[in-house]
Amino acid sequence: MSGGQLYDAIGATYTVTRCTEPRIAAQVWAALGDARTVLNVGAGTGSYEPPGRDVIAVEPSSVMRAQRPADAALCVAAAAESLPFEDQSFDAAMAFATVHHWQDPIAGLREMRRVARRVVVFTHDTSDTGWRRRFWLTRDYLPEVADLLAGRPSLTELARAIGARTEPVLIPWDCADGFFEAYWRRPEAYLDDHVRRGVSVWVRVGPECEQRAVRSLRADLASGRWAERNRDLIALGAAELGLRLLIT
Ligand SMILES: C[S@@+](CC[C@H](N)C(=O)[O-])C[C@H]1O[C@@H](n2cnc3c(N)ncnc32)[C@H](O)[C@@H]1O
Repeated sequence: MSGGQLYDAIGATYTVTRCTEPRIAAQVWAALGDARTVLNVGAGTGSYEPPGRDVIAVEPSSVMRAQRPADAALCVAAAAESLPFEDQSFDAAMAFATVHHWQDPIAGLREMRRVARRVVVFTHDTSDTGWRRRFWLTRDYLPEVADLLAGRPSLTELARAIGARTEPVLIPWDCADGFFEAYWRRPEAYLDDHVRRGVSVWVRVGPECEQRAVRSLRADLASGRWAERNRDLIALGAAELGLRLLIT
């Protein structure tokens, strides 16, 4: 199943929990520099599209396109791997939380580089050995997430493909955009079905793993085991969980 087909199947309730997180948006928009024309690839429902610039969006899923606000940027039905634009037609191209869904991430990034003078990508670094221990949810409850990464290019390979530098993105404790890591200091949120439905990981690991992880987390929250294990997090205002910008 392509990434677009996946979102046709699971994307209908995306905006219940997913939206622009202003502090992360500020970092993305700063990385866009003085770009006036911006292509947003894998644009979904329009989160993180910068105001005050000429934006065109690309999104393969009709279910996601249908949820874009009436005043959102023009959205073209296409995929990252084959962008229907001339070389260097945009000052910048951006992609947020989408590269891990592309069938060929390297080809998609090269396409962004072809059509734009600058590229800004929000993605995650899973390549270092400490990654599995970084986030308690994958470490203690959902180790199967690692299987989803098999055969996918590392952050280093993605960056090298387009000559990008990387910049860490910290996740505020009260992150407004409910992506997978967003509730690192609000563990009860993962017990909520609506929260999990806004994140493709839960569908991709399958219902058995999902239910086992939720049961186990619920028990640890009730017994105080989660609090005991994650004492250090409570005082943090933002966490470094491997999220990165790639910037050319
Ligand atoms: C997690 S959503 C992110 C949407 C939006 N960027 C945001 O931050 O809310 C991932 C999006 O990537 C899209 N997608 C999947 N495969 C794609 C591809 N090959 N090219 C472009 N977009 C793709 C999906 O349809 C989905 O809308």
